[in-house]
Amino acid sequence: MNILAVASEIYPIVKTGGLADVTGALPGALAAHGMAVRTLVPGYRPVMAALEGKPTVVRSWPEFYGGPASILSAAAAGLDLFVLDAPHLFDRPGAPYGDGGDFPDNWRRFAALGKAGAELAEHGGGGFLPDLVHAHDWQAAMTVAYMRYANERSVPTVMTVHNLAFQGQFPSSIFPELGLPDAAMSVDGVEYYGGIGFLKAGLQGASAITTVSPTYAQEICTPQFGMGLDGLINARVGDLHGIVNGIDTAVWDPQTDAHLPAVFGTRTLAKRQRNKAAVEKRFGLDADAAPILTVISRLTWQKGMDLLADVLDRIVAEGAKLAILGSGDHALEGALLAGAARHRGRVGVVIGYNEPLSHLMQAGCDAILVPSRFEPCGLTQLYGLRYGCVPVVARTGGLADTIVDANEAALSAGVATGFQFAPLTADAFLQAIRRVMRCHREPSVWATIQRQGMKADVSWDRSAARYAQLYDTLASDV
Ligand code: ADP
Ligand code: GLC
Repeated sequence: MNILAVASEIYPIVKTGGLADVTGALPGALAAHGMAVRTLVPGYRPVMAALEGKPTVVRSWPEFYGGPASILSAAAAGLDLFVLDAPHLFDRPGAPYGDGGDFPDNWRRFAALGKAGAELAEHGGGGFLPDLVHAHDWQAAMTVAYMRYANERSVPTVMTVHNLAFQGQFPSSIFPELGLPDAAMSVDGVEYYGGIGFLKAGLQGASAITTVSPTYAQEICTPQFGMGLDGLINARVGDLHGIVNGIDTAVWDPQTDAHLPAVFGTRTLAKRQRNKAAVEKRFGLDADAAPILTVISRLTWQKGMDLLADVLDRIVAEGAKLAILGSGDHALEGALLAGAARHRGRVGVVIGYNEPLSHLMQAGCDAILVPSRFEPCGLTQLYGLRYGCVPVVARTGGLADTIVDANEAALSAGVATGFQFAPLTADAFLQAIRRVMRCHREPSVWATIQRQGMKADVSWDRSAARYAQLYDTLASDV
């Protein structure tokens, strides 16, 4: 079966977060289930630079959302891609969505991506005719709307929500430029509270909706997590599926990882000490036996980084060290850097985005803190499991689904993989840290939790099977 995926990021070519990890790993995992996936991505500079061989032009337009554009078919980094080569939209410096703030023409850039997806759904390209289209997040969601209002071919669609906080909402004044029939400007179409909602349009029109964990699927049906879309999602609850993310176990393998001073496995946990020493050196931390708690995260309110800044002094007082890697909100960056300045040798902060360093931290730190207010799935706790870096997570979304709390029952049954806490308050967070410190003082208990996590199945195997099953069901319904 041919699957056209549409996404605005894909690892290892362009990544701002977990979305890229998922779109990069899922095609390989689905191949084992007889699914041939090609992914349509924007022709950003790093994408154009990564294309291998001579790309084939499968469609082109002299005028496409404000300039000439074509769709290329090419391979890059082991992935089969379609690329929307539209220099006026994507050939610019900066990150995928902006250089500082958001690009003011993001609505046009991602409407164009959606239109290109719909064109591929209708006509195919490069010998590939899609049997199903899978759109990821708001940037790809207009594919569903264009297919619905402009295409003849009936092709089932899956709309995956990676984060309901990002919806692609724009003023209604852009409507004439979208090239949709007037009928689309309705509650049943792209209209959303008087404006236009890209994700809303995708959720409305898709044959099925998925999100990246079962708990988040339940949460987004409530006003607290629904971000204004809970009414629509409830109306479609029969078509809603929560499928937890896996990880690429070849990219994240502590036994072969080239970014590590010392590779290790469940039987050679002692080798982690060399990685820990490297983290201490990199973050200016004292080389002592105290555990290093790490954070690898966007520094935002969603991720609970304000709470982390608030409790930082008390975490240090409990005797732990902190190694923090992240970037985002400038006020939070400042607060964490100030914490590092107050606690030299105990807290180290690196502001920035650094993939190799993130591997070292998972391999050398003792525990990873993920105090998110909401978390559709979360991947850093899965990398933590695989690397013996014990996850300490807020009990929400995919964090609740992927970590087994080290309560007495789980400890005695030998199934604990980490620590959960709720609600998201300083007290609950600190209580969890105290439990971590207590367990860490008992090496055999700690090693059991580490090993249990390392043995957990965090691969894509089960979840890819669930996507494949969903694709099959939708294709047979047509
Ligand atoms: P989200 O997508 O909401 O940011 P996830 O946990 O799903 O959260 O995915 C985050 C991804 O980005 C992970 O692969 C994580 O390792 C990576 N990451 C986040 N911040 C950094 C950083 N500063 N440096 C390197 N990798 C980071
Ligand atoms: C989003 C979510 C995160 C999830 C990722 C991949 O960025 O915030 O929880 O893991 O998408 O699905």
